[in-house]
Order: sequence, then C-alpha cells, then structure tokens
Amino acid sequence: MSLKNILASALLAAAPAVAHPGHKDVVPQGPLYRRNLDHCAGKFQEPEFIKRTVEIHGSELARLRRSLGIVEKAKISPRDYLSVSRIDHKSNKTVTKGMDLSTLFSDSGTCVLTPTVDLGPLYVKGEEIRKDITNGERGVPMTLAIQVIDYRTCQVVPNAWVDIWSSNSTGIYVGVQGYPGMGDPNDASILQGTTLRGVQPTDNHGIASFDSLFPGHYDGRATHIHTVVYIGATRQPNNTITGGRAAQIGQIYFDQSLISAVESLPPYNTNRMPIVQNVNDFLFRQGANGDDPILRYAYINPNNLADGIFAWIRFGVDVNANKPVNPAAFWTENGGVMNPTGPVQPGGGFFPGFPGFPGGGWPWPWGRRRAARAAGAQ
Ligand SMILES: *[C@@H]1O[C@H](CO)[C@@H](O)[C@H](O)[C@H]1NC(C)=O
Ligand SMILES: *[C@@H]1O[C@H](CO)[C@@H](O)[C@H](O)[C@H]1NC(C)=O
Ligand SMILES: *[C@@H]1O[C@H](CO)[C@@H](O)[C@H](O)[C@H]1NC(C)=O
Repeated sequence: MSLKNILASALLAAAPAVAHPGHKDVVPQGPLYRRNLDHCAGKFQEPEFIKRTVEIHGSELARLRRSLGIVEKAKISPRDYLSVSRIDHKSNKTVTKGMDLSTLFSDSGTCVLTPTVDLGPLYVKGEEIRKDITNGERGVPMTLAIQVIDYRTCQVVPNAWVDIWSSNSTGIYVGVQGYPGMGDPNDASILQGTTLRGVQPTDNHGIASFDSLFPGHYDGRATHIHTVVYIGATRQPNNTITGGRAAQIGQIYFDQSLISAVESLPPYNTNRMPIVQNVNDFLFRQGANGDDPILRYAYINPNNLADGIFAWIRFGVDVNANKPVNPAAFWTENGGVMNPTGPVQPGGGFFPGFPGFPGGGWPWPWGRRRAARAAGAQ
C-alpha cells in the first residue's frame, strides 16, 4: 500500500467519529480538524511517518473529508477557555538532554492557524541569537521547543526565527525601565538585563529550542511566555536578526497544576506577589478561545520537578502575515535603550494611545495597584 493509501484508510477509519459528532465519548470538544489529525497520529507511532504524512497531507485530509460530505462548519464546536484550562498537558514521554526534539511533536498533529495575540508592553527588539537564555539565574530549568508550521500547507517552516521573553523565576522582566513593579523606575541598570530573552532559528523540523527557566509570576497576569515568529529575517554578523515579517505574535501558558508545583519550590516560593489563575487572565481567555495555548510538558526526572522540564508547543502560522510590533526597548551595540515611541514611557504613562484607551494611562486595575505599590515603595 502506498503512503497515500495508508493515510486514506486511516482517515476513513476515523470517519465514523467524524460523521457522528454527537457522541461525546468519541468526540470531545475542540476543532474537528485537529482532533482528527490527532487520531491519525495515534495510529502510527513512527515520528517520521507522522511528520511527513499526517501533517504534510493535512490538505489531503480536508479533501477526503469534503469527499465524504462532511461539512466542516456545522461540526466544529469552538474550544472555550474553560475546557482548555481543564486539559492535562502533562506528557509521559521520556525526555533527556540532547534528545531528538521532533519526537516531542509526534502526537500533536495540529495544522491550524494559531491566533495572534497582544505583544504586551515589555518586548525588547534586537536580542541576541542564543539557546541558553538563563544568564546563570536560578529557577526550574526548562527546555522549550516551539515548532513552526505553515498552517496552509501543513509543512514545517525551517529558517524562521523565534523570539521569546518572560519574567524571571521571581517574576521580574529585565530589559525595560519604568514598568510598574519591574524594578526601581529610576534605575536604568535594568536596561542592561537580557535574562530570559533571546532568539533561535527553526531547524529542518521547524523547531526552535531554548534552554530557559520556568517563568515566575507577577501581579496582574497568569504565568506566561511571549513569542514572536519572524519569517525572512536576516542574521547579522553581531548575532542578532534584522528585518523579516512578524508572522505571529503569541503568549503561551502552563497547566495550573504545574504552576502550583513550581511555585512551591525555591526561589519561586519567595515571590510574594499574588498569583493570577489562567482562567482569571483575560488574555489567556482570549488566547484559549478556539485554540490551546498551553504548553505540553514532561519532567526530566519523573521524581523531581526541580531537575527541570521539557515544554513544547506547535504554532500554525500564516507565513505571509506581517503584524505590527512596537517594542518597549531595543538591544543595541550600546546595550538596552528605551523606545521613545514605545508602550512604556519612563516617568510617564503606560500605553499612551493604546487602542481602545484614548488618553493613555494604564487602564487596568492591577496596573493601578502595582503603580500604587511602586509609588509607595519609593
Ligand atoms: C502514556 O500515556 C498514554 C495515554 O495516557 C498511555 O496510553 C501510555 O501507555 C503511556 N505510556 C507510558 C510509557 O507510560
Ligand atoms: C530576577 O530579576 C531581578 C532583576 O534583575 C533580580 O533582582 C532577581 O534577583 C532575579 N531573580 C533571580 C531568582 O535571580
Ligand atoms: C547588531 O547589528 C545591527 C545591524 O547593524 C544593529 O542595528 C544592532 O544595534 C546591533 N546589535 C548589537 C547588540 O550589537
């Protein structure tokens, strides 16, 4: 049997589930397209098979489904953030340093467009290309793998650039001066910080990977990591990238149970800022309606979380998209400098002219709380 026929029979075998979406035991919530690919992936354990056929032939799946008379629109029930928050993303895969990261993605056969979400006010553009972004700081080690695929063709996208940033294990973002709660607003030394910021290219499997730390929490947001995927950027001799298109802007999250487990460990447990649950974070709710922005993960040592985790997620991107990016600061040959027209103005307001909030000023209650605390601390 040819690969195509194998695939076709796998899809036909899945057809009863497709044809009777009312059976809740067979068809849980979530986009049909994704579920169906998952089903195929489960049938064939060989990662190569899955990579080269199920993903790559996502369009074949769509064609077959059309030929079976399955009307996609009527059958898809949108994921809502509550159902996403109830999914357990813990994997029992065995993960080891230096493993073939593509095997992490063998059972996540998604080929859907990952929605672009808010860039946030703490992006520093121009960070270095580097795999280890920990700067030697303490925290739970985390190898983060992000696979980029073209959602139209389901092909992996090599030579894309993934730029990530997050707060450190005690909930501080470095690299931006004057954001309430993130250091002394009058101390410019925070601009020289680069911890948990960096850029990596995607390899032949479309995977960019980082040696990072599990991010800490801070008041106002659920624990998360920011991402920008650049397509067509140029590597400069000084180990940075310029140009290209910001095809996707994302925020990725963790299971609440994993956050709780990490937060019980030092140095996370020294952080006294309130923890915001995923379901209470409106950006999580936005990102988790119709998509699953939570990282799958596995413990490196099943008996000791402190030894670290692997975490992974796939992004389906529109490679032609070019989203606007307004960084708070730039990393330059002279170190970090604030963007005079960025979202954070030292000594000034936040989000000046932020769409929907004319008149500037930080509009959200936690921003006011944080600003009040920062002011009180001086
Ligand atoms: C991993 O989990 C799956 C699904 O829960 C299960 O079928 C499988 O047997 C598990 N594998 C191992 C090695 O524990
Ligand atoms: C997080 O960053 C802040 C600012 O640089 C620093 O004071 C703090 O020690 C860092 N946390 C850890 C655990 O290194
Ligand atoms: C790297 O080179 C680019 C292009 O010349 C420049 O804009 C940027 O400031 C440089 N960055 C660093 C960290 O040297």
